[in-house]
Amino acid sequence: MGIGIVYRVGRKVLGVLATVARSERALMAEVLAPRQGNAVLRRQVARVRHEPTERAWFAALSASGCASQRVCTRSTGAPRRSHIDIYVWRHPMAADLEQGTARAAQGMHFDASLDCWVVDGYAEAVAVMREPALEIPLLPLPAAHLADSEQATLTPLWKQAMDTPLYSSGKAHRRLRAQLRGPFTHDAVDRWRPTIRRVADAAIDACTPCGKLEVIEDVAGPLLRQVMAEVVGIPQDRRAEFDLLANASMDAGKLATPQWSSAVLVEAARAVEQLGDLVHDLLGRADELPTGSVLARAAARRGADGGLSESELATNVRSLYTSGVYTTVFLVASAAYLLFCDEDVLREARRDDTVIRGVVHETLRYACPAVETNIRRATRDISIGMQTIRRGQFVRTAVLYANRDPQRFDAPDLFDHRRPSQGPSLAYGVGPHVCLGNHLATAVAEEVLRALAQPRRDVRLDTPHPTFHRRAAIPVMWGPDRVHLKLGPN
Ligand code: HEM
Repeated sequence: MGIGIVYRVGRKVLGVLATVARSERALMAEVLAPRQGNAVLRRQVARVRHEPTERAWFAALSASGCASQRVCTRSTGAPRRSHIDIYVWRHPMAADLEQGTARAAQGMHFDASLDCWVVDGYAEAVAVMREPALEIPLLPLPAAHLADSEQATLTPLWKQAMDTPLYSSGKAHRRLRAQLRGPFTHDAVDRWRPTIRRVADAAIDACTPCGKLEVIEDVAGPLLRQVMAEVVGIPQDRRAEFDLLANASMDAGKLATPQWSSAVLVEAARAVEQLGDLVHDLLGRADELPTGSVLARAAARRGADGGLSESELATNVRSLYTSGVYTTVFLVASAAYLLFCDEDVLREARRDDTVIRGVVHETLRYACPAVETNIRRATRDISIGMQTIRRGQFVRTAVLYANRDPQRFDAPDLFDHRRPSQGPSLAYGVGPHVCLGNHLATAVAEEVLRALAQPRRDVRLDTPHPTFHRRAAIPVMWGPDRVHLKLGPN
């Protein structure tokens, strides 16, 4: 028995060391010089590893908008230990798998150490995301990590996820999408563009006197909070309150990070309740809701067949807001970096406004902000290519790799904004769960880049250059921590 204990403790210690070393490699690749950007990013993408399956729980939480969206980087001074805690924190599903590493295979393979299928080929990724028998599971709560009282507080928050499109399927999923889709269609997004551009211009102009700006803090973050509040339907006078509550509600995702405490959870639960009250108030002042927004449309349809209940609306308004803000910020930052790190592309963009569209499109493929889509679970045996996925097995799809599949894209490790279309990037997923906000996210990135590339602003890349890495609290996301720019005289 003594030997058994020593063996288990030894394994655990080795596991911790292995995962820490791996996370260091995966997270800390530096972008050294702008002109080398492509080459450096090319090397980085090979270093992003599939991590043990317990992280699936975090992926699931993040995508539902429940996870903490705190951007934990060296520059915010947040403790690095949080990575370690996430890596060693074990989901029951992943017991004993902390030693696992996956091969960087093209296609798909079953990784015994991760206890799931790993998909990194383009065609296989598309097949997985389109397969209705592969559902996005609402994974069980990690009871071992929570006191009974915490479990009781967290369960209702977690169950709310079932009212979002991501965690629903079939008829329920179609109903939710149909009810929420209005503000996110191509045409609707074109109507938001002038607002997006106005907010972008104002944010950049506010930085002009100091001659520099940081894309995430000064432009993308504040812009996305404003635009997403407008799109979901929060009137100006309630936005600060709404933002605070939405962020507090996501803190439930700080589970197993050093920031976790019962108090955080109680606050998150209270925030969700207050958000419900806020949405109730807003629906009573329907004429003040921003035109065309999720809430304005829902208010106009109240009582109609299939309409969303107040509680469904509150859940989705919160989840759409956070999903929109904390994903798009990485697209904007990556695209800005890739535009400004290459003088030739920048010159072209200043001459020709349409070049920006190609830059954003290629950024979605080449520096895809989502490392992975949500984990799937097979509801029955199914075949993808030559492989059979058995009922109950899990599937992880690494879109960052699939977007660089040489079988689909010529010279996949080259950033080429003039690349002829070889199929859509998988950054937004495909199939029934394809990102509802994809047109909006793309439009935000395009408008911000257009505003920045205005010749009169004479914007240039500044140092220090960004580090691209997975986010500690949102491990499914990948992108630069900071992108510094210099502003010329007006
Ligand atoms: C660059 C920014 C974004 C990226 C990279 C992104 C990525 C994704 C991906 C990969 C999925 C599919 C997940 C899966 O199949 O497992 C997804 C779904 C979703 N996204 Fe986005 N997203 C972004 C922006 C947004 C925005 C702005 C919104 C706001 C409306 C949004 C709302 C959603 C929703 C509601 C779903 C679930 C759709 C469903 O299940 O039917 N996303 N997103």
